[in-house]
Amino acid sequence: MEGKLGSAIAVTILAAVAIANSSAAQEATRTPLDRVQSVYGLSVDPADDATLLLGTGYGLLRAMPDGMAEIIAPPRAAVIGLAANPNEPARQVLIGVGENGVSVGLFTLESNASGWTAVPGTDGETGVALTSLSVSRLDTAKLAGLDKTIHLSEDGGLSWTSLETTPEKTISVELSGTEPSQIFAATMTGLMVSHDNGQTWQASYSGEAPATAVASLSGGRVAAFIYRTGLVMADEATLDWQLVGTGFKDRYLRVLTEDPSSPGKLYAVADTGAVLLSRDGGASWTSFESNDLAEPDRIAAGETLYADNCASCHGAGGIGENPEDPSAKDEFGFKAPALNNDMHAWHHSDAGLRATIREGSPRNERMIAWQEVLSDEEIDSILAYVKSTWSIRSLACQGARHMACMEQ
Ligand code: HEC
Repeated sequence: MEGKLGSAIAVTILAAVAIANSSAAQEATRTPLDRVQSVYGLSVDPADDATLLLGTGYGLLRAMPDGMAEIIAPPRAAVIGLAANPNEPARQVLIGVGENGVSVGLFTLESNASGWTAVPGTDGETGVALTSLSVSRLDTAKLAGLDKTIHLSEDGGLSWTSLETTPEKTISVELSGTEPSQIFAATMTGLMVSHDNGQTWQASYSGEAPATAVASLSGGRVAAFIYRTGLVMADEATLDWQLVGTGFKDRYLRVLTEDPSSPGKLYAVADTGAVLLSRDGGASWTSFESNDLAEPDRIAAGETLYADNCASCHGAGGIGENPEDPSAKDEFGFKAPALNNDMHAWHHSDAGLRATIREGSPRNERMIAWQEVLSDEEIDSILAYVKSTWSIRSLACQGARHMACMEQ
């Protein structure tokens, strides 16, 4: 299992470069989010806190809650690193990689500048091609990133030093938010911490399970994702880890970041590329897609509408029609499928589910076009309710991403 996890992580970087260079990616400027599967970095869009910037194999994307992403310039390359300064979210850094894995360089976004500016000397064969970028909360000029080793910069990315003492099989690196010489490394053999700028390392979270992501949070806290355990958090001062979020099953988080303007609001990227959002400090998660609908009032309204209009066929809570009889059929040869985790409702994107509910089934008259009966607003509330019955795994595997979940 660990071997599989390791090779999956290594392979995604190569896949990113291939996708960025495909002509299809260059033509499509708007793409459904569930088709974007290699996401390496995430930050809250400085122009609009309802949208996100994603560093992906397709380049830099702006992701919207309607489930679409648009490609924004520059660079025309895979963006393998993207991070915001936690104290000044309008200041960001990204690293792009073009054909054959050659760096197109480090770019910075400054709060008062109109766009991304290339940092001279960081591109080409000797340039930086780092993933897992991290900007220190304590010193904006201090950056960390990862290729085979951890790299550190003290001058905003102009010059970098490689850490020969990097723990084996490091997946993700993060600079401490409280201690100037503290660094975290999520590795295949667990979460490691260094108190001396990376010279020596110790295990931080007990056990040998792979750690796949680590992020410094506001308030002197740090979060990490432990494979098959879940999301754990600690105060940096004590590093006494507590389990905060479970239910990921075989999926894991690759990227984790806190909304700089809203402590307790966390964004994450699952191994499938799905962008997830937690509003309660990591305990419960929803998909970024349609997160604007996932409000308690909306879900409650959807639950009532579901009970009144849908439960007669799809069952209470979405368990499906006649779940105890697998061979049950209606006059068209179908039964109303489960809409919870049990069947494959989550194989459809939100747009796909919305279309089925609005337009009905072309092959089954029992599933009518609900747009004749319910408003779009009501259909959206039902969708929010249905998704609230799903596990984090189903959310991470929703839509086109479900294929990646079947392979493993
Ligand atoms: C009279 C029975 C009936 C009612 C009421 C009904 N459905 Fe359906 N629904 C079906 C059947 C049967 C299918 C399977 C259609 C097919 O496979 O072509 C279906 C399919 C679906 C699907 C596709 C699921 C998938 O996994 O592909 C969705 C989504 C759905 N219904 C949502 C709803 C919602 C939301 C409501 C209430 C607004 C509703 N349905 C009310 C019978 C019903």
